[in-house]
Amino acid sequence: MSKVAAVTGGAQGIGKAIAWAFADAGYELAVADVDREAGNELMRELGRRGAKGFFMPVDISDEQQVGRWFKLIDADLGRLDALINNAGISRNAPMLELPLASFDQVIGVNLRGAFICSQQAARRMKTRGAGSIIHIASTRALMSEAHTEAYSASKGGLLALTHAMAVSLGPFGIRVNAISPGWIETADWQKSSASRQPVHSERDRLQHPAQRVGTPQDIAAACLYLSGQDAGFITGHNLVIDGGMTVKMIYED
Ligand SMILES: NC(=O)c1ccc[n+]([C@@H]2O[C@H](COP(=O)([O-])OP(=O)(O)OC[C@H]3O[C@@H](n4cnc5c(N)ncnc54)[C@H](O)[C@@H]3O)[C@@H](O)[C@H]2O)c1
Repeated sequence: MSKVAAVTGGAQGIGKAIAWAFADAGYELAVADVDREAGNELMRELGRRGAKGFFMPVDISDEQQVGRWFKLIDADLGRLDALINNAGISRNAPMLELPLASFDQVIGVNLRGAFICSQQAARRMKTRGAGSIIHIASTRALMSEAHTEAYSASKGGLLALTHAMAVSLGPFGIRVNAISPGWIETADWQKSSASRQPVHSERDRLQHPAQRVGTPQDIAAACLYLSGQDAGFITGHNLVIDGGMTVKMIYED
């Protein structure tokens, strides 16, 4: 029986690269995303690559919708090995003007949504005594530009959720890790109607110690590794994938 991976926000961007990577590694897929057009396009592409699984339009901040998604995973795929909580939004605005509704929306999707999906997944993984959950956080959980309070708080919350869940779920054979991406260029991983050419200046690239910006595949490869047996002793960890930006000391002249 094939392994099964569930990916939120898996229809576009980093999540799409994660879905492709797990499909290429032989996993069956359950992809949830609010964008129906992008989800259907992804499934056509995966079908051409011989991958199995389904896409379902799901808003992960809605407990009922998430519940229906996991019931379909039970019915259609019959097991769950990996959950990647990738879906995320931002509503950046000056802190003194940010509407509370926007703050609640960002926390609702990025943090509460990840928790709702994790509860559903962990109940199933506990029955099998094995599983991997990965939260896609951000280097903005660790450092900030101005006007990013809601997003940064949601991603900081995911890091705390990672160590709390790792401790709670360890006895059930479930490992929980976070990945904190830095600047990842997703322009050419959007649905065809929204696809753009990535544009980077030399300055953009060279400010990274790794001399380039990141790609969705950089994150997807780490998700695959952290979900596999070679990472069996890694839990509660936050893997920063940012080309070295957060370790770079900056002094202005
Ligand atoms: N791109 C970056 O530079 C970067 C850096 C750090 C962290 N991240 C994080 O990586 C993740 C993916 O980012 P991305 O750049 O690929 O974003 P993206 O906007 O390209 O893709 C996000 C996907 O999530 C879906 N989505 C949004 N709200 C949803 C909801 N409520 N329920 C289900 N699906 C929903 C969108 O429809 C979209 O398909 C996010 O959590 C983001 O915060 C991205």
